Amino acid sequence: MRKITLEDLFTHPSTIKYLHRSGTAHAVAAAYYAFKLAIERGVNPDYAAKAALLHDIGHYEWYTDGKWDYNLYRQNDIHAIKGAERAHRMLIQLGEDRAAAKEIAVAILLHTDSYLPQTNLSLTPLQEIVKLADELDEEPNGNHHRRQISEERALRMVRELDKKIDGVLEPKQNTI
Ligand SMILES: [Fe+2]
Repeated sequence: MRKITLEDLFTHPSTIKYLHRSGTAHAVAAAYYAFKLAIERGVNPDYAAKAALLHDIGHYEWYTDGKWDYNLYRQNDIHAIKGAERAHRMLIQLGEDRAAAKEIAVAILLHTDSYLPQTNLSLTPLQEIVKLADELDEEPNGNHHRRQISEERALRMVRELDKKIDGVLEPKQNTI
């Protein structure tokens, strides 16, 4: 039995606030990719989907004169660090298992290496999946951050993914 669900995370005020910056559609799509990859690779689909859903909540808006400034972003961005910390705080606050909260937070921390001085890290399967799930949904010029989805549809998709995860982790309970 999972202590908290994707819906718990998705409806948390911090998630709502930060996904408005980084893109709700991208977060939900990445969570679906992560679930699929986790099943294929024998990784915990709950951890993978949670980390992918929250992977970009550390984003800041880098604007100069009202326009997105990619250079400013590249030079100063630490969204993976901020996202990992925010996600960890939220997970613990909601009552997530501490070991799970750490695994999910570290997977968020390492979903990109753009802020690191060295980039030859060897990732765990969970960390690799979250990185890949993000990349699979990427569009040129960062357009994946601006793709739109209604709040209702996003919530329906999150609930559907919760059911899929429960179906994998607790298959017997769901057939009763
Ligand atoms: Fe992303």
